Amino acid sequence: MFKTKFRLDPKVLNKDSFYTLNNGVKMPVIGFGTWQVKDGEETYASVKEALRVGYRHIDTAEAYKNEESVGRALRDSGLPRADIFVTTKLNNPHTTYEAAKNAIEASLKRLGLEYVDQYLIHWPNSTHFRPHYQKRNKEVYRAMEDAYFAGKIRSIGISNFRRHHLEALLATAKVKPATHQMYINPSDMQAEVVALNEKYNILTVAYSPLGTGRLLVLPELIEIAAKYKKTPAQIALRWSLEHGYLPLAKSKTPSRIKENIDIFDFSLSKKDIKILDDLKGKAGLAGDPDTIPF
Ligand SMILES: NC(=O)c1ccc[n+]([C@@H]2O[C@H](COP(=O)([O-])OP(=O)(O)OC[C@H]3O[C@@H](n4cnc5c(N)ncnc54)[C@H](OP(=O)(O)O)[C@@H]3O)[C@@H](O)[C@H]2O)c1
Repeated sequence: MFKTKFRLDPKVLNKDSFYTLNNGVKMPVIGFGTWQVKDGEETYASVKEALRVGYRHIDTAEAYKNEESVGRALRDSGLPRADIFVTTKLNNPHTTYEAAKNAIEASLKRLGLEYVDQYLIHWPNSTHFRPHYQKRNKEVYRAMEDAYFAGKIRSIGISNFRRHHLEALLATAKVKPATHQMYINPSDMQAEVVALNEKYNILTVAYSPLGTGRLLVLPELIEIAAKYKKTPAQIALRWSLEHGYLPLAKSKTPSRIKENIDIFDFSLSKKDIKILDDLKGKAGLAGDPDTIPF
């Protein structure tokens, strides 16, 4: 079975565990996603509930248009700032050093924070700057590094990259990316990109760990879930941890928010992991970042 170098032993893994990134920063092993959660009450209530039931890691983005509500929920949670890990992302229309610098400040302002724990390039080759991705990513990354040196960003990451995007970036980066947030679940293992992350000591962060819901109806997953007396969502999230990825689960439903973090009292057998590894495309595949109209 494939295991990343970040993988934690199931015997010690619990909801308060963290992965140690390549710059020493500690990142909670499960995150709460907020894509497609409406700004205002929906985001506020979901994030507040997530923090209440034990998530300590919230993933948002400028593009999700809900940073203000995330920030309000963080403040009202009553938790110390240092106990919560917050990630946000640079939106595609920002293509210069200055624009990225301003975007970081604007995200901090909307979130009401003095720093974020992680800041990502959301997309490596968007229609906003295709086909000049090398120049754009180099410029915005420099702004991210300056914010990192200024203490406004505790770790830097990338998202949806492929080899050519990453290696172009590494040619000029002063700070190595610490994480790579990408579409990964049993339906698309993205083995080549995961191997690249391993090579550069970059943690693989699994977005859409439930295939945005599509995975949960597959008979193989339903059968394994029944065997462990768990739900298909819990099996899919645990699968991420078994490989040493960091799953980002999204739900706006309180019972599911709780269910999705209740994945630390069981471990999957090698045989069941293999069945899941072999699902190959049954619930969809990652899109191509060079051609998707985003
Ligand atoms: N970097 C990127 O480009 C990128 C792209 C996509 C996602 N992400 C991040 O990754 C996060 C997760 O990905 P995702 O939003 O695509 O989806 P996901 O977590 O794979 O799936 C969410 C969907 O599954 C449903 N669901 C959640 N828990 C469930 C459960 N226990 N039982 C049944 N259904 C359940 C949710 O419904 P309800 O909400 O209605 O309960 C929602 O429809 C995002 O929110 C975002 O933070 C990043």
